[in-house]
Amino acid sequence: MCPLILSVKSAPSLSTSPVQDGFSRPLRDLRISVTDRCNFRCPYCMPAELFGPGHAFLRDPQLMTLREIIQIVRAFQALGVEKVRLTGGEPLLRADLPDLVRLLREELQLKDIALTTNGWLLEKLAPKLQAAGLTRLNVSVDSLNDQTAGRLNGLGFKPERVLRGIDAAAALGIPVKINCVVQRGVNDGELLELAAYFRARRHPLRFIEFMDVGNTNQWAHDRVVSAEEIIKMVHAVWPLEPMGPTYRGEVAARYRYLDGCGEIGLIGSVTAPFCRDCHRARLSADGKLYTCLFASLGWDVLAALRAPDSSASALEAFLRRIWQGRRDRYSDERGEVLAAGETRAKIEMSYIGG
Ligand code: GTP
Ligand code: 5AD
Ligand code: SF4
Ligand code: SF4
Repeated sequence: MCPLILSVKSAPSLSTSPVQDGFSRPLRDLRISVTDRCNFRCPYCMPAELFGPGHAFLRDPQLMTLREIIQIVRAFQALGVEKVRLTGGEPLLRADLPDLVRLLREELQLKDIALTTNGWLLEKLAPKLQAAGLTRLNVSVDSLNDQTAGRLNGLGFKPERVLRGIDAAAALGIPVKINCVVQRGVNDGELLELAAYFRARRHPLRFIEFMDVGNTNQWAHDRVVSAEEIIKMVHAVWPLEPMGPTYRGEVAARYRYLDGCGEIGLIGSVTAPFCRDCHRARLSADGKLYTCLFASLGWDVLAALRAPDSSASALEAFLRRIWQGRRDRYSDERGEVLAAGETRAKIEMSYIGG
């Protein structure tokens, strides 16, 4: 279900100035989901019982082609987008992903092309991604323990292959950060082990508070381990000090190990929301634009692009109007929404890529 496509015929004239939303937030990052499929079945994202053989995944004609993605990103660049992050589902399942990275770099001269992956196919694909010009990589590792990791990916896969993929990417010089979603009673007993492993390798490890994304992940407040609790736990063993953000609106609060062994990050979307500086737009694999991770409705950008009378200037004007009308701040409002018992149909994480 999507809002009506605005008529591209009535679009105002082309302008290339940066845009701001209803709370004066610019548009800087575009997260593009390239597929809604995944080779894992993490219960907090794609529970196997709901995403089994009967699930209606997107079909090929519904997906944006590489050409279409480039046309859409070009329009976003005119509004101020400087960084693109490729997501899924699992983005490495899309065979033409290295070609997309190359096109983003060569045709659009994008300097920051990042990828978020579960790492299962990384060992094989890292050389192609590096050659294509990928600048950064975030890999999910929720546990180093075979049993816990197997439960968390829903398919019993051991973490070893993902860790080899991380080593392969790092050996090629791609900067790698690690994402760990923390759930109380599931993997919160393993955080120091994870910190020790990634400190030794100097990869920034980001602990993520378990979020109420989508409608199927059985989220409950008591499963959230707060960023503050996690910092205290790590600080007690390896003292930390706060660092500034790498860029304004960075989702992770960063802390440096005082002994010089790198840094960790805390993504506290539940206890320390960061909506005030949120400059991210999200595009689903079928070309719908969502202005918040917790949105219910998307704008059909791909349909606008595929319309017979579409033009680059009309597409840009369409996107500009959407961003100007944006007033999303779900994480700031979460408390009130939940207290009011309000139920919202939210998009699924696997569809929009986090
Ligand atoms: P960099 O800072 O560029 O490395 O990337 P990132 O941390 O924004 O991206 P990544 O895909 O690694 O996401 C890490 C976690 O942050 C995931 O759980 C995302 O769902 C979450 N996240 C990213 N952007 C937002 C956001 O705008 N709002 C909320 N609530 N969570 C976000
Ligand atoms: N809460 C927080 N992070 C989540 N991710 C997936 N589901 C959730 C959730 N419910 C993470 C993935 C990946 C990133 C894109 O989002 O583990 O690292
Ligand atoms: Fe796949 Fe990532 Fe979702 Fe796990 S969290 S099912 S790896 S898309
Ligand atoms: Fe941005 Fe929505 Fe996340 Fe807030 S909850 S930071 S508005 S994506």
